[in-house]
Amino acid sequence: MPDDSPDRPRILLDCDPGHDDVVAIVVAAHTAELVGITTVAGNAPLDRTTYNACVIRDAMRLPVTVHSGAERPLVAEPKFAAFIHGQSGLDGAELPAPDRGADSTDAVSFIIETCRSSEGTWLVPTGPLTNIALALRAAPDLVGCIAGISLMGGGTFGNRTPAAEYNIWADPEAAAIVFECGAQITMAGLDVTHQFLVTPPRIDQVAALDTPFTSIIADLFRFFSRMYIARHDHIAGAALHDPLAVLALTHPHLFRGTDRHVSIETHGRHTAGMTVIDRRGITDREQSNVHVLEHVDADAAWSVVFDALAEAGRRSCR
Ligand code: BDR
Ligand code: CA
Repeated sequence: MPDDSPDRPRILLDCDPGHDDVVAIVVAAHTAELVGITTVAGNAPLDRTTYNACVIRDAMRLPVTVHSGAERPLVAEPKFAAFIHGQSGLDGAELPAPDRGADSTDAVSFIIETCRSSEGTWLVPTGPLTNIALALRAAPDLVGCIAGISLMGGGTFGNRTPAAEYNIWADPEAAAIVFECGAQITMAGLDVTHQFLVTPPRIDQVAALDTPFTSIIADLFRFFSRMYIARHDHIAGAALHDPLAVLALTHPHLFRGTDRHVSIETHGRHTAGMTVIDRRGITDREQSNVHVLEHVDADAAWSVVFDALAEAGRRSCR
């Protein structure tokens, strides 16, 4: 059975699957009311992130539509993340073919119509912010219709450069539009996502579920973890970033954070894509625009993720 938490927020997930984006889809389906999936170029080119989203939608038999969006960032050249996710965006497992492709190629219209038709939807972007920026630019009234934006991105350190995290770095101009839009924003940046690792014991736990779907996830986790361990001096596994943007809404008690002013550096020679977080304790700071997550109860968060994966395994076997 899906998670029975009393409040299931309405979530529209904008993603670039991506190993950890897959887990965000699984967790959103289990803990929230998932109203649709939109895709963006990011970890891999758009045709591939869209294909991957369709694979997961159909393997999980999810009754939601997938809409592909921006093929490239607003200004920057496209930059993919094959060094972490492989050329396909989901290297490491044999993926079943999806039953059908995307339901439309107009993610931006889908975002606008969905948010306008039902007030109180949360936008949950887990890739570059291109689609969300385009939607906000075309329909500034969305800020007044949505509940807010809970995103994975940024942090006080980077993973693509010393200063910049991948999702913000890949399309800083889009990120600047989103962070300045006036909506309530929750930010799951690297400070918190690097507390949430998919370690060998957690992978073994998933493999032991022994369903076709969870075996695929275990294979994906093995690949993802290997890439992280190879690229870091000391890390016990891959950082499972993206599901935290979902869990911040469905299980907020698992997090600690602070309201801060955050601006996006779009031009710095060494700092483009940086989230400049004002952490000063003095009174003439700018008003906060972002709830910056700083700490997660990783064991409790893993237990929600594990339940969601187990449920997806049962659902896919039916
Ligand atoms: C973010 O970049 C991507 O590689 C992941 O899917 C995640 O959204 C982490 O920096
Ligand atoms: Ca992602």
